[in-house]
Amino acid sequence: MSLIKLDEKFLGTELREKVDAKMSVAVEKLHSIQEKSCVGSEYTGWWDYPQIYGFNLVKDVQAYINSLDVAYDLVLVIGIGGSYLGTRAVSSAMQHSYQGLVNSDKPLISFLGHHLSETAMIEVLDLLDERQPIVNVISKSGTTTEPSVAFRVVRKYMEDRFGKDEASKRIIATTDKDKGALRQVSQDLGYKSFVVPDDIGGRYSVLSPVGIVPLALAKIDVEALMEGAHQVFNELKSGDLNNHPVLRYAAARNVAYESDKRIEILSYINPKLFYVVEWWKQLFGESEGKDGKGLFPAGLAYTTDLHSLGQYVQEGVRNLFETFIHFDDASTSHRGAVEQQLKVPVSESNVDQIGYLEGKRINDINYGAMVATKIAHFDGQVPCVEIQAPSLSEKTIGALFAFFETACAVSCLMLDVNPFDQPGVEAYKKNLFGLMGKPGFEDLGQELKTRL
Ligand code: PA5
Repeated sequence: MSLIKLDEKFLGTELREKVDAKMSVAVEKLHSIQEKSCVGSEYTGWWDYPQIYGFNLVKDVQAYINSLDVAYDLVLVIGIGGSYLGTRAVSSAMQHSYQGLVNSDKPLISFLGHHLSETAMIEVLDLLDERQPIVNVISKSGTTTEPSVAFRVVRKYMEDRFGKDEASKRIIATTDKDKGALRQVSQDLGYKSFVVPDDIGGRYSVLSPVGIVPLALAKIDVEALMEGAHQVFNELKSGDLNNHPVLRYAAARNVAYESDKRIEILSYINPKLFYVVEWWKQLFGESEGKDGKGLFPAGLAYTTDLHSLGQYVQEGVRNLFETFIHFDDASTSHRGAVEQQLKVPVSESNVDQIGYLEGKRINDINYGAMVATKIAHFDGQVPCVEIQAPSLSEKTIGALFAFFETACAVSCLMLDVNPFDQPGVEAYKKNLFGLMGKPGFEDLGQELKTRL
């Protein structure tokens, strides 16, 4: 039985039949990933990574953390795209939303290098002042502008505050095994370093040192994360693949696209999943959106967005396909188990007209709202599927990573696009180099300036 399930009831009979007809193609694409015969096969190192490397990596990282001779209460992750989103997805889902204010005994995790906002950088420096930081700078290429700029700022801060020797004990680099500026700097300054595997692209790298090192530093259960992913990869090695939820989800996306749907909404009802959805958006957007093809991945938070974009989903342009994601909630609160079940209190007066909800769990009302929304959207010609996972935990998030990575690669192959490259990302980078005067880009800079 699969750890993660897919409910296709509200896809509608016609699309469900089309999914059935597509399953042999989906299975064939999965096999081409497993056999490394697909396009981009040199980047399929994420497939079955937990079993091949992951569990050993967890042991090595834990041993390293146990040997650290600096105390810290803040983990600062510097990276962009696939170099930070997986870590942020897990930490936001698993840590208390007010970590640092409550649960103050656990390390705080913070992020930089994923934008070029001066104000936001200064605010992170303010935070560093209040804490004993450890820094993990992560860049596969080692040359990406945003984390490079942030790292210069933070490195100077760390050296000014702690001196070069202690700063070098508080900085960990995760990068290519021998290429790039970050590898060079770590060698020169004696930073502990971890390697981003050659055969894994950024957005598929959360289970590699890219995610495991900072998450383990933040005291998140990375072994359980690996275990969940391992379970899903294992499920996909044998058995009834025609009915496996990963492949059925990939096929459902494909038939939605062929039925002229152009936007996939991933809807969720627990705000702690915000960054899981951000991770998913990057994975699918960067993998599938090329050659003029692909579903545009969007995320909606319910019930919040039912009072905003919900109107559009119900009655706007009918090019939407919606995937709901639901985990049974598990609280990260430090309150006792009984207090974790929050029910609508009984009240003497019914002036708010919610007497019918008295004694009901908030979770149950929330799920009720999601089911109500799904039916309404289906009736409004938005085909829907629901991904169902057991209670929110490191294990189920790990399983979800394996679920989406595999489904994404299969979806792309079904659309005949390479799931592992991102040629479109270069366009803005070149323009930025030209506008900011990088040597070698002067002519482009001149040409762009004439257009302003
Ligand atoms: O998925 C990808 O490959 C990208 O999103 C990268 O992760 C992102 O561009 C950051 O690259 P790097 O780790 O080389 O700094």
